[in-house]
Amino acid sequence: MSISDALLDRIIDRAHHSKEDIVRLLSPTDAYDEGMLFKRAYEIKKRYVGNAVYLRGLIETGNICEKDCYYCGVRKGNRLVNRYLMSKEEILSSAKLAWKFGYGSLTLQSGEMTGKGHALFIEEVIREIKDLSGSELGITLSFGEQKEDVYRRWFKAGAHRYLLRIETSDRDLYGTLHPHDHSFEQRLECLHVLKEIGYQVGTGVMIGLPGQTVEHLADDIIFFRDIDADMIGMGPYIPHRDTPLAKAIDDIEEVMSFNMNLALRMIAATRIVLRDVNIASTTALQAVDSISGLVRGLTSGANVIMPNMTGNEHKGDYRLYENKPLEDENSAEYMGRLESRIRLIGEYIGYNQWGDSPHFKGKSTDVSTG
Ligand code: 5AD
Repeated sequence: MSISDALLDRIIDRAHHSKEDIVRLLSPTDAYDEGMLFKRAYEIKKRYVGNAVYLRGLIETGNICEKDCYYCGVRKGNRLVNRYLMSKEEILSSAKLAWKFGYGSLTLQSGEMTGKGHALFIEEVIREIKDLSGSELGITLSFGEQKEDVYRRWFKAGAHRYLLRIETSDRDLYGTLHPHDHSFEQRLECLHVLKEIGYQVGTGVMIGLPGQTVEHLADDIIFFRDIDADMIGMGPYIPHRDTPLAKAIDDIEEVMSFNMNLALRMIAATRIVLRDVNIASTTALQAVDSISGLVRGLTSGANVIMPNMTGNEHKGDYRLYENKPLEDENSAEYMGRLESRIRLIGEYIGYNQWGDSPHFKGKSTDVSTG
């Protein structure tokens, strides 16, 4: 064991990690040191959450958005987007397919829409998905910032998890990524309300944003710990040509590959610090390195994958960043390929299970794991 291994292990074993510890985890000195970081994170994952990979079938129900975030391809101000809303029948048919494939749960996501009609529509969709699956399919929502009563109605209808990324926990950096009327405080408040209602709450950040430092990322992990997140979803920032934030970037490919590496380190460091939460190997990793990107996420500490179940007719229009993978993921052929890659690293797919994080289970006494 080298001196740096011993130091790394000493940091990893600490019961409580300081910001300096986390900065050190995020800054490997060389390729060997980075390999050790991933290896240790992977061991911790196996010890705390096992070697099952849980699936969440992702349905992108619409790309209409009231927000104008400077990094996002479906921002309100992007006139080049072909806007769509999936019909109830389309959503239910994707849900049925996911259920047929043995996915334990679904994630429904769309651009932010706060109208009453949309809230009601989603409430109905949640109830019908519960009905069609005899309540077996778990439902995660990712519909941005909403009023408390809407969050409550959706929870009552049967959704049990909510993803709302903080994007960055640094207020100043947040300010450079969003127009003035997009409030950091409001987003924070939503996360608290969601938790109070009883949702399993997921948050996360983009990694490699212009102006973002390793110190910011260390603070992000501390933020996840402080709000007691159950799930983490994060991935590399990938510029989208038609957004203001991408204007200053010349070489998108170079940014993507740099951010990919940083994202894997961030997954590893988050696993080491938070241990028993669910961490997603997100689509943005797949955008950089296809199925291998997802597998690299798993071997760095992630334990959840979100295959895209949006119909092929809409998938191309839900483009938050460049290089979105557009292959047919809701096919037996793709699932076979994914599964064999997962087996190769000695893991297996946790079919027909919700796959709640041990972190959440440890807190709750009355939630069935399905
Ligand atoms: N690169 C990477 N991730 C992005 N998101 C939005 N735009 C981008 C981008 N250009 C992420 C945000 C949002 C999630 C749905 O997608 O973190 O919360």
